[in-house]
Amino acid sequence: MEYPIAKGVFDILPVDPDPNGKWRESHLWHYLETQIRELASKYGYREMRTPLFELSALFTRSIGKESDIVSKEMYTFEDKGGRKLALRPEGTAPAMRAFIEKGLHQIPSARKFFYMAPMFRYERQQAGRYRQHHQFGIEALGCSGPEQDVEVIDLLYTLLKRLGLNHLTLHLNSIGEGATRERYNQALCDFLTPHLAHLSKESQERFHTNRLRILDSKDAGDQSILQHAPRITDFLDEASQQHFESVQRLLSDIGIPYRLNPFLVRGLDYYNRTVFEVTVEGIGSQNSLGGGGRYDGLLKELHGPDLPACGFGAGLERILQALLLQKIPFPEPERPQLFLIALGEGAKQRCFKLMTQLRHKGLFVEMELTGKKLKAALRFADELKARFVVIMGEEELQSGRIELKEMETGIGKTIVIDELGGAFDIK
Ligand code: HAM
Repeated sequence: MEYPIAKGVFDILPVDPDPNGKWRESHLWHYLETQIRELASKYGYREMRTPLFELSALFTRSIGKESDIVSKEMYTFEDKGGRKLALRPEGTAPAMRAFIEKGLHQIPSARKFFYMAPMFRYERQQAGRYRQHHQFGIEALGCSGPEQDVEVIDLLYTLLKRLGLNHLTLHLNSIGEGATRERYNQALCDFLTPHLAHLSKESQERFHTNRLRILDSKDAGDQSILQHAPRITDFLDEASQQHFESVQRLLSDIGIPYRLNPFLVRGLDYYNRTVFEVTVEGIGSQNSLGGGGRYDGLLKELHGPDLPACGFGAGLERILQALLLQKIPFPEPERPQLFLIALGEGAKQRCFKLMTQLRHKGLFVEMELTGKKLKAALRFADELKARFVVIMGEEELQSGRIELKEMETGIGKTIVIDELGGAFDIK
């Protein structure tokens, strides 16, 4: 094809002929999006929609200059006015920007937000990583207590469980405050220095730029070195330690299992204290369905009010892939209640009018208009899983009666054309 789709992105279509592409079918997205909207609103989160692009400095300042997202993955461009912009790689920074800009801290009811939106990252191509992915994210502002962390975690975990997913692991860690991370960074430096030559190339680079991220390394050699590395949780200040313990207690209270993972640091700089991720087995190395944590300093960093905050982002692609992998049934797409087949020009006109009238009254009606012969038209009605079919020819036009036939049973019933709506409880 001369103009194929760009690399690392995908179309969401009503059907995808690729046997591995079912997760890209739009009815699955609609189902997931509906479940998300319903649950988010029950937890008191309301939707926020921000533009696809922002000033790139917003992301540099929030996510961190040395993060992979900012240093390697951002789609940046200059507009005709010379402004440096970026397609948003994530949703937290834009949400904070909007919150500050509109002075929403003055409106007590405007403190819990969700979004469902595409994000853009120039990723190395691999399964589970897309250059445009879709995130469901929530951000809760203004509450510093551990209950807030747990509400946020619970929403993500409950969503995934409600969808029917199994084999989930909630990884939990605390990275404390800035001073903890500084002391820990030094301890990690002391520990890793003698092993530096044996670390993977990527980790060697990160040693100088973003040391904590070495803990995330998937390299087996790095992992065996890291086994004996100091743990950040041994460096927590008293208040962070207490907060972390409360989060764990509350999670246990509400029956959410978790695994303490001292190596979980997350790839964005704005976090403090609680960080978490939910992974699922079986979808490959990119197995994080969602992750987030507390980011108490970000609003202030962006010159907004000094308010604590907490949230997560979850990838819709990965959730759908996991659901399909675990063979969790999805509701069927809506099927037509009635399929009309007209034989001849007069019948076609009558059927078209009938279809339009019934549609206007709320019925899902389809009609064969592409010139298919009767047999093919019936096959098509079957493929659409239409509940009833009507075949209208000269004879039916003359008599003013048609046969309404149930596709599944083959049982037919003769009806006056003008009373067809009545069969569907439509006046
Ligand atoms: P993140 O961990 O970078 O966090 O992304 C959240 C989720 O988005 C990941 O767990 C993953 O499911 C999905 N995801 C990320 N990148 C890709 C990709 N290239 N392809 C497919 N899926 C992807 C954030 O973005 C934070 N803003 C989350 C947050 C909100 N923290 C606090 N509030």
